[in-house]
Amino acid sequence: MIVPTLNEAGNIDPLLTRLSALDLPEGSFEVIFVDDGSCDGTPEKVREWENCGNIRLIERREKPDLTRSILAGAGAARGDVIVVMDADLSHPPEQLPALIAPILDGSHDVAVGSRYVPGGSTEGWPLHRQWLSRLGSWLARPLCDINDATSGFFAFRRELSGTVAERAGGYKILLELLMAGQGKLRVVEVPICFRDRIHGASKLSFSHQWTYLRRLMTLAGGTVSVGRAGRFAAAGLFGVFVDALLFQWLLSSGAGLALAHILSFFVAASVSYSLNFKWSFHLNHEGYLRWPQFGRFLTVGLFALLMRGGVLALLVHGWHMPPLLAIFPAIGATAAVIYMGLVFYVFPVKQNPPSLDVRWRVASFGIVAFAVMLRLIYMGMAQLIPDEAYYWNYAQHMDLSFFDHPPMVAWLIWFGTSIFGDNEFGVRIGAFICGLITMGYLYALSRNLYDKSTGIRAVLLLTVLPLGFVTATLMTPDAPLMATWAATLYYMERALIADQRWAWLGMGIAFGLGILSKYTLGLLGLAALLFVVIDPGLRRWLCRPEPYLAAALALTLFSPVIAWNMENDWASIMYQSQRATGIGNKFSLHLLFFHMLLVLTPVGFVAAFMALVVRNDERAVNPLIRRRRLFMQVFTIAPLAVFFWLSLFGWPKFHWTAPVWLAILPAMGWMLGQTDHWSKVASRLRAAWKPTIGICMFLYGLALHYVVLGIPGIPYVGFSEHYFWRETTREVERLAAEVAQQTGKKPLIVGMSKWSVASSLSFYNDKSEPLDIRGRNMFLQSAAMYDFWYPSEPPTDRPIILFGMKTHQLEHDIDGNDNITPLLVQPGPIRELKIEREGKPLRGIYYRVAQGYLGLPATDSQVR
Ligand code: GDD
Ligand code: MN
Repeated sequence: MIVPTLNEAGNIDPLLTRLSALDLPEGSFEVIFVDDGSCDGTPEKVREWENCGNIRLIERREKPDLTRSILAGAGAARGDVIVVMDADLSHPPEQLPALIAPILDGSHDVAVGSRYVPGGSTEGWPLHRQWLSRLGSWLARPLCDINDATSGFFAFRRELSGTVAERAGGYKILLELLMAGQGKLRVVEVPICFRDRIHGASKLSFSHQWTYLRRLMTLAGGTVSVGRAGRFAAAGLFGVFVDALLFQWLLSSGAGLALAHILSFFVAASVSYSLNFKWSFHLNHEGYLRWPQFGRFLTVGLFALLMRGGVLALLVHGWHMPPLLAIFPAIGATAAVIYMGLVFYVFPVKQNPPSLDVRWRVASFGIVAFAVMLRLIYMGMAQLIPDEAYYWNYAQHMDLSFFDHPPMVAWLIWFGTSIFGDNEFGVRIGAFICGLITMGYLYALSRNLYDKSTGIRAVLLLTVLPLGFVTATLMTPDAPLMATWAATLYYMERALIADQRWAWLGMGIAFGLGILSKYTLGLLGLAALLFVVIDPGLRRWLCRPEPYLAAALALTLFSPVIAWNMENDWASIMYQSQRATGIGNKFSLHLLFFHMLLVLTPVGFVAAFMALVVRNDERAVNPLIRRRRLFMQVFTIAPLAVFFWLSLFGWPKFHWTAPVWLAILPAMGWMLGQTDHWSKVASRLRAAWKPTIGICMFLYGLALHYVVLGIPGIPYVGFSEHYFWRETTREVERLAAEVAQQTGKKPLIVGMSKWSVASSLSFYNDKSEPLDIRGRNMFLQSAAMYDFWYPSEPPTDRPIILFGMKTHQLEHDIDGNDNITPLLVQPGPIRELKIEREGKPLRGIYYRVAQGYLGLPATDSQVR
């Protein structure tokens, strides 16, 4: 037992008294006190006990240091197992036997007395110490999978002390020990109850905490000192100055926000680059970065820039801050991104780099954090796409279910907008949260199928691939679908493979909420049935009550949809099953493949394919591992097969397969981290992931910046006829006011697409002067929920304005029948309304004004 001491005189007697009361077998242990020059008589106190036999004292004469003291003690120790314990009775000696048991019986290499596992606790510590300690162990968690990495009470085999780094010092010896094992140690956490000391004072200082933080960064692969801190800061400050000054000058000379911030960024970055890299970094002999490093530096800068646009937009457009003030927090955010990029990516540590596994973890944390921040910043700034606006209209007509989708999307929007108001953020917050839930369940699933590292990498892939990024950004039924799909898979695995009965309850709930999100989730039920039938060991579940109870629970949750359908002639169910069972015979399998490439990227597509079919023989012998593989295969292939079949007959939608890949992402994440080159293709694939991740993230950032602030030099063309409804609605309102003034009557506004035009106009319409907006069902064309919201419109002599994104929408239906003009009074010609932003063309919208509406013949008034 090693007890480091520094001025602990008052604690020696009580400690040794309690230790001897333990009745440990004589001669089976020794207590080594390592003192660092205490001046309160601690060594003398220990000496009083020395003749008891197994108590020794080492007095160090060097600079006091906790880690060095413990290592000195370990060097002098005679036993095979070493326990480290504080002298101040914070660690109850009574818990010693429980701590060493796992080492003595040979089952583990390190046992940690842990406050942060069930059964562990901390008593008497002031709140700030508790938080600091939690923060410390929380920061170390991604590196070493231990809940209490800062514990000072632990046991290990003596030979391990030789592995601790030469330069290690301070309070973090346990972390050093764990990291030196490169993840190969068998570690167990034993719950302990930590009590604050009664005698003396703590020696933990701010500088210890600071070194701990720096050491954590180094262990994670970051270079902590990138040269001279003072000069670095000076160059940075000068950069901030140049940036802000130039930004202001550009703005005042008429440049837009985007142009001003991008130009000033590039100039400031070049200035501080040339200052920094001549002065303060360790570089090659010419004093510049080598090309690969320069490329990395540019990449980091680009990402920082794309995020900064969002921060600026949020502050200036969202919170109405003056731009000159807003540029400072924006620069701050940029600096944080650049700093982390420099430390971990441009200048990673060269000596003793962390293992590949740790490097992937660190990269994953960084990239995922960046992606989540990007979403959070831009989410409320990017205008809604028409689909989101349509679902917002759902939420304005709350119901048990809806015609084209079950109700979850509406419920989430209702919830978000009642907290944050009727704005983009309120609409999308539900999708954002669903994204986090998806990540959580995917992590847990992958950890159960493989290990924690795989879980982290699977979440990385989910975050960067379009299937995960887009569904977590836009508020469509796919957002809750992804979350519940991941949750269902998680509980399925727990129920069917880990044999946990409670998991059936979770599954019933996840499944029920899932079909409330999108009917597609039902495919997982099919997959589950298939899995149980294929695997003989699982068939017994068919005669047990749990699966049926789970199904009943799911059905109960689904009952609102059934109730709605009963009230509405089964309209929704009919519509969906019509869509699913061979509408037409248009062979579209090639399209499905194209869509799979879109949601997965080409590299992801190949990786998913390999993860599905290639087996790593060595792992395939273990029956449990085989069952896990089968699980992933069945739950991917079964739903996929249905989509294959459907696209033999009709058009697939591009996002159909998005959730399907959740089941195979764990295997993809696992492959990503394998170092043994069990296949040439696999190692090529690993190399290809890096640019794929970079390109995906870049494109998301670019797209968000483009729609929110624009990219100088790139006009808004093409897709924008479906977008930018805020500006469009302003023009529509202006036109409506004009017509009202001319005729003296408030016009009726009709959206002449299925639902896009009407929904988007409703969302962006100024709520204090609402327009009367209707759907195209006024003209014998189906308009989804508008058929239900406005089933029939009486004839009127109010003026009416028809709006369409294409001219043909104002002329005839898809079959070419003009059933529009005959219903209008004095229909005018089709005109285009040009929409601009800051004097530049944004898009157009077509309209047609008439002086009245004749109404539908009575027999035709119910059209779907
Ligand atoms: N030899 C030697 N040299 N011993 C030292 C030194 C030193 O420089 N500094 C502290 N010690 C001894 C103390 O005498 C005590 O026995 C033990 O190390 C722990 O020191 P405390 O000063 O009591 O630390 P603490 O209670 O604030 O911190 C505890 O909790 C931390 C986690 O939050 C300790 O258990 C830490 O190890 C732990 O990291
Ligand atoms: Mn203490």
